[in-house]
Amino acid sequence: MIRMMKSMKSLWMISTVSVIVLLEFSTALGQVSVGMMPQIIEKDGRHALLVDGQPFLMLGGQAHNSSGWPGMLPNVWSSVKAMHANTLEVPIYWEQIEPQPGKFDFSLVDTLLKQGRDHKVHLVLLWFATWKNGSNHYIPEWMKSDAVKYPNITGRNGRTVDSPSPHTQAAMEADAKAFAAVMGHLKKVDLQHTVLMVQVENEPGSWGSVRDYSAEAQKLFESQVPEELLKPNVLKALNKPVMVRGTWQEVFGEDADEYFHAWSVARYIGYVAAAAKAVYPLPLYVNAALRDPITNPKASTYESGGPTDNVIPIWKAAAPAIDLLAPDIYMSESEKALKVIELYDRQDNALFVPEIGSGDQYARYFYAVLAHGGIGFSPFGIDDNGQGGTEEETADRLKPLAQEYAMAEPMMRELAKWAFEGKIKTVVEGEDHAAQHIDLDKWQAVVSFSAAGGRTSQANARPIGKAMVVQLGENEFILIGTLCRVTFRPLGACADKVWQYLKVEEGKYENGTFKLLRIRNGDETDWGGPRFGAAPTVLNTTLIMR
Ligand code: DGJ
Repeated sequence: MIRMMKSMKSLWMISTVSVIVLLEFSTALGQVSVGMMPQIIEKDGRHALLVDGQPFLMLGGQAHNSSGWPGMLPNVWSSVKAMHANTLEVPIYWEQIEPQPGKFDFSLVDTLLKQGRDHKVHLVLLWFATWKNGSNHYIPEWMKSDAVKYPNITGRNGRTVDSPSPHTQAAMEADAKAFAAVMGHLKKVDLQHTVLMVQVENEPGSWGSVRDYSAEAQKLFESQVPEELLKPNVLKALNKPVMVRGTWQEVFGEDADEYFHAWSVARYIGYVAAAAKAVYPLPLYVNAALRDPITNPKASTYESGGPTDNVIPIWKAAAPAIDLLAPDIYMSESEKALKVIELYDRQDNALFVPEIGSGDQYARYFYAVLAHGGIGFSPFGIDDNGQGGTEEETADRLKPLAQEYAMAEPMMRELAKWAFEGKIKTVVEGEDHAAQHIDLDKWQAVVSFSAAGGRTSQANARPIGKAMVVQLGENEFILIGTLCRVTFRPLGACADKVWQYLKVEEGKYENGTFKLLRIRNGDETDWGGPRFGAAPTVLNTTLIMR
């Protein structure tokens, strides 16, 4: 039984509001209901973002931080087009939206909505407010100039740190009020749901101090841990002994400072999110500046208090109005990036990568995210940020992922559905370039990585190859890849059997059906299986035992 992350009551309310724009039509995938509220669903630990009632894959790109202004948007849209993206992540700024307390200006939001619709691209809005990369540089001027009412945190040495206090009720209420006003505006003007999700804050937490050491914060730190964190399942998830009461130090020991800060930041953002959700329940998420996912480093070496992998249970307990916690991946090594992807794909957390580097060493993780049932992928900084580059330079810069999105765009609904159903398996080339395999019931796919897709035995110069196998039937697979070669081995009782390709069709999906370009045979399938060159190709492959 599918568990909706939103209550059925609110879904009914949304459907009623949306009914004026409701238009239904059918595709090979099923009923698409234009105008339905975007929502995240979970089934058997896998997730989907439903857009118009069907699984949707965000082929995203994020604009630079100061590119949400009208004069910057032409370059943003040309980058979106060059990327074949279907979703733009773009910041909206509290300082611009509420220039005077209680006076709201939604003109930039309206411009984004209009231009998004003109370009037939969905939006994910990024609410740059109390936190932006651990600082408060996007709060309105009237807040910046009142440091007594809206203080920063205090470091262990007693000095002020460039990071807002999560203990300030006035700031929390002001943020909640402004964010709720934004959501109220969207509810009024976005009946067609151009906006799919909203990011609350940006990489919240603090650099330069593990927590707030002000007198007020210290008093809270020395008091009892809130009961939400004392639940046995939460303590177990944090690898802490079950206790029924205790101070932060008593319950969490050496992790007390970081956990206290994570709770404080998450509780503040949870409050802001709940206020907005009560007005208009779009999916909301918070993005994380990551810590090294393998070495368990000290909290003083990364941004403390944000939703890093070790404190996900704290964020879940403190901020239930947040639908998901999302990793910003700037670690290109496969061991680390794949570990991050694994850590944020949880039964209680849909995987979404809202920021990732844009080079070819990162494009391979698009495949890994699909295999984990991810709902979207989005490299950071797709526009040229006012640098005056030519269109050719932009296209060249974006090419590694643009060619993947060009492949994925016409089959986006199929990919989203397969990802939700757990039918996608992938491998990405590791730094050792070693061959890898994928088990598929009766078969094993063996993927080797070498230059020109295996035409020579020379290894790829850099580890950027990847392969995706979608199991459509017992012997039928969609194969997609670059810079590799895929062959098969029968498994188990069939291991000794002779097999061959019944057919290998190359083509692409159009409106829900596979359109043949050619049948691959001869050199294109012999000598070790179909090979994939620098640009991804889609093969519909059927195997047969003889
Ligand atoms: C991560 C932040 O979330 C983005 O807004 C941006 O500042 C990038 N880092 C810059 O690399």
